[in-house]
Amino acid sequence: MDKIIIRGGKPLSGRIPISGAKNSALTLLPCALLTDEPLTLRNLPRLADVDSFGHLLNQLGVSTMIEGARPEDFGRVMTLRAGRVTSTVAPYDIVRKMRASILVLGPLLARAGEATVSLPGGCAIGNRPIDLHLKALEALGAEIEITAGYVTARAPKGGLPGGDFGFPVVSVGATENALMTAVLCKGTSTLRNAAREPEIVDLCNLLVAMGAKIEGIGGSTLVIHGKERLHGATYRVMADRIEAGSYACAAAITGSALDLIGAKLDEMEATVAALRQAGVHVEEIADGIAVRPNGKLQALTLSTAPFPGFATDMQAQFMAMLCLAEGASVLTETIFENRYMHVPELNRMGAHIEVKGRTAVVHGVERMVGAPVMATDLRASMSLIIAGLAAEGETEAGLSKRWFCSGHYPPPTPPFQGGEARCAA
Ligand code: EPU
Repeated sequence: MDKIIIRGGKPLSGRIPISGAKNSALTLLPCALLTDEPLTLRNLPRLADVDSFGHLLNQLGVSTMIEGARPEDFGRVMTLRAGRVTSTVAPYDIVRKMRASILVLGPLLARAGEATVSLPGGCAIGNRPIDLHLKALEALGAEIEITAGYVTARAPKGGLPGGDFGFPVVSVGATENALMTAVLCKGTSTLRNAAREPEIVDLCNLLVAMGAKIEGIGGSTLVIHGKERLHGATYRVMADRIEAGSYACAAAITGSALDLIGAKLDEMEATVAALRQAGVHVEEIADGIAVRPNGKLQALTLSTAPFPGFATDMQAQFMAMLCLAEGASVLTETIFENRYMHVPELNRMGAHIEVKGRTAVVHGVERMVGAPVMATDLRASMSLIIAGLAAEGETEAGLSKRWFCSGHYPPPTPPFQGGEARCAA
């Protein structure tokens, strides 16, 4: 079994270059399907999911070439070219390992007029249906058919006309699929109640760099004027605001000073506001964000929400941090129905957390103690590492294979000093 061993109880210090954003990279990569010209993505994070996405695109006829990173980029540079789409099928084998594979549905449909993708199914954090992806594509003119665990989307003769769609619930992935389809539709499309996450802005900015015309970027109504073709581009993936927030929680729980290089305050305002409310000193510096200790952590009341609200992807890390805060914190998870898998593990380390439905009450304790724990999804795993850094003794976080499918590899070698984290295979 793969595991991470954390010897906690030591302060951290240093300057950490923040990687390219996972959730941005996974929606920028399929944009290669939208043009026959080369797309070069810089600052791609070193993740198994990025490689899996590359393999999926290879199966569809996209060539991928990885170049060495430039000195200013922490991550990798990949040039993708879909001269010709040779297959329009994303098979179960790949989709079951990486949910984000569903993001080829829109671009394949837009470029090739047809796409068949295995239904992704649920995962550790919830059911995660794709009904909104399909309804949005239908509104743009696609015909949808579901058979034998696969969804097929087809454009009518003459191509997709485009159309209007209002999302009943904000969905990041469905907004992304609809955007990547609408840019190649015949007419104009309007997406209402669209997701406004910075990763959506990053996607819009890439599409515009490829020749798309999109109005309302950053807002909840996006108007997309379809183009006959898009061209190639070179684009730098934004910094990962969730990774930056996770390091900030690690600094806060250990009373440490860390500089998060490349992190942008305006992309993580809700995270920074919550850190400040908990008593952590956070300030913008020339090349990122500085996190400084500022006395005992204070309890918080937080509820997850779509951007600009407090991100569900930060909930587990904040919960770990608040285990050692003064007073009782109340966290409510409104996005995913099963995102408290870390709670029993944190309790095994001495935390005192009670869950009732979607709300967790975290009663601050004086100390936590390292223990063997089982990590589930990526963010839950990070929360156990954060707790382990502040706990007395050794924490051994056993990782399900899935973690490596959504995590860093090869194992991270953090460019900072302090509590030791070691990966063992
Ligand atoms: N939903 C539906 N129907 C749909 C799509 C979504 O009911 O067709 C519901 C979901 O079940 C959920 C809510 O809408 O309750 C929001 O889901 P969303 O579609 O926004 O999530 P996603 O696109 O599947 C992305 C990130 C997640 C992140 C969420 C929310 C990627 C690859 N994944 O997922 O990231 O939590 O948005 O911000 O971008 C992670 O990084 O650990 C992670 C899970």
